[in-house]
Parts: sequence; C-alpha cells; structure tokens
Amino acid sequence: MKTAGGSDAAKRRAGERGAEEVEDGFVVGLGTGSTTAYAIEAIGRAAEDGLEVRGIPTSFQSRQLALEVGIPLASLDAVDGIDLAIDGADQVDDDGNLIKGGGAAHAREKIVDSAADRFVVVADPSKRTATLDRSVPLEVLPDAHTVVADRVRELEGDPTLRDAERKDGPVVTDNGNLVLDCVFGRIDDPDALATALSRIPGVVEHGLFVDLADATYVGTDDGVDALEY
Ligand code: 5RP
Repeated sequence: MKTAGGSDAAKRRAGERGAEEVEDGFVVGLGTGSTTAYAIEAIGRAAEDGLEVRGIPTSFQSRQLALEVGIPLASLDAVDGIDLAIDGADQVDDDGNLIKGGGAAHAREKIVDSAADRFVVVADPSKRTATLDRSVPLEVLPDAHTVVADRVRELEGDPTLRDAERKDGPVVTDNGNLVLDCVFGRIDDPDALATALSRIPGVVEHGLFVDLADATYVGTDDGVDALEY
C-alpha cells in the first residue's frame, strides 16, 4: 500500500537526479510509481533531444508513460543486459534494503532491478527509515492466497488481501495475481525474512529487496542527498 507522505517537488528532484545517470546507448529499467514517473519524463525529454536510449518497463503504468514521452521500448529477452535501473521504494533502510510493491509491481520490478548493472532508488525523505517496518506485499497466485496467508501467520505476520479502490474485490496485478500485505512489525533481519517468504509455495514474489540497490537519491526541500552502498 502507498504512503501519503512526500512532496511532489522532492519526488521530482529525486527522479530527475536518477535520470541524469542515463548515458547515450543505455538500456534502462523503468520502475513504477510517482517518483520514477519524474525520471521517465526526464529521460523522455533527453530522448527528444537526441539521447539514444531504450527502456524496459516494469509495469503497465511505466510502459504507458514511456510510450507517451517517446522512449523506445525493449523487452528483457531482446537485450544483452540492462545498464541502469531507476525505481522508487516504499521504504529504504540505512543499508539500502527496500520494501517495494505499494503499486503491486514488485515482481517485474525485482526482475528488472536485479538484472541491471546499476540500480538506483529515487525517493522522498518520508521513505527513509533506520529499520524496515512497513507491511511487506506478497504477489500470490490467486488459488494460493489462503494457504500463503496461513504460512505468513506461521512466520508471525499478519496478512491482509489488498482491496481494489475503484473495482469491487481485490487488486489484480499486471500478471493476473493477488496481493497480500503482510505486517511483521520491525524487520531486524530482512535477509532471513526474504528467504522465508521466498520458500512459500504460491508466492510469486515478495516486496523485500535485500542488498540489491547501489544508491538512493533522496529529494529534499532544496536539493538531493545521494547515498551509495
Ligand atoms: C510499485 C513500487 C513503487 O516504486 C513504490 O510504491 C513507490 O512509489 P511512489 O514513488 O509513488 O511513492 O514499489 O510497486
């Protein structure tokens, strides 16, 4: 689920700083969400000015926006590699571990972000935390949602099926699956929880991104804080 915090100006600064890393000839992973949207728009402007770039979208939303702003698209199986991925986050800890999936796009995001030579996170200050403690989204196969929920409870988590806002019933992901938002409280060992969640049959992907980010750009009131890991 999304947080309400973070000004548009801070998101814009972060997103545009991320886009500055794109070089001529790059294949770029295009993340999902309101902060990454500023990066995609900036890459679109650069492409219009002659920068050669190809984008790999991580969601229906990022694909649509990339098409609108004129970024040529490619698919993962049609490129030799990804030079850079730019993506948002719902929470970032001091080591650069993330909780993602507020937009239910974390399965494709994790594939693209982890395949990139460099993965930069773009965020506003409300996303920073010393220790991860937001709910962790799990994308689950529809038939498996009750059994996955039972397994989450065995791990002392509290799962809730994510409801859609302008549709009756649950959120359905771009991949046709459901989302369980799972509260674990303070997550002192994200790696151990990530491993335990990955072992549950029926979980397509979870929103813990452990040791994947290379840097975070945090947009502030008057600039950008760059954190390298
Ligand atoms: C989508 C995500 C987004 O990157 C995350 O929710 C942050 O979005 P925003 O920049 O709108 O706050 O993980 O699945």
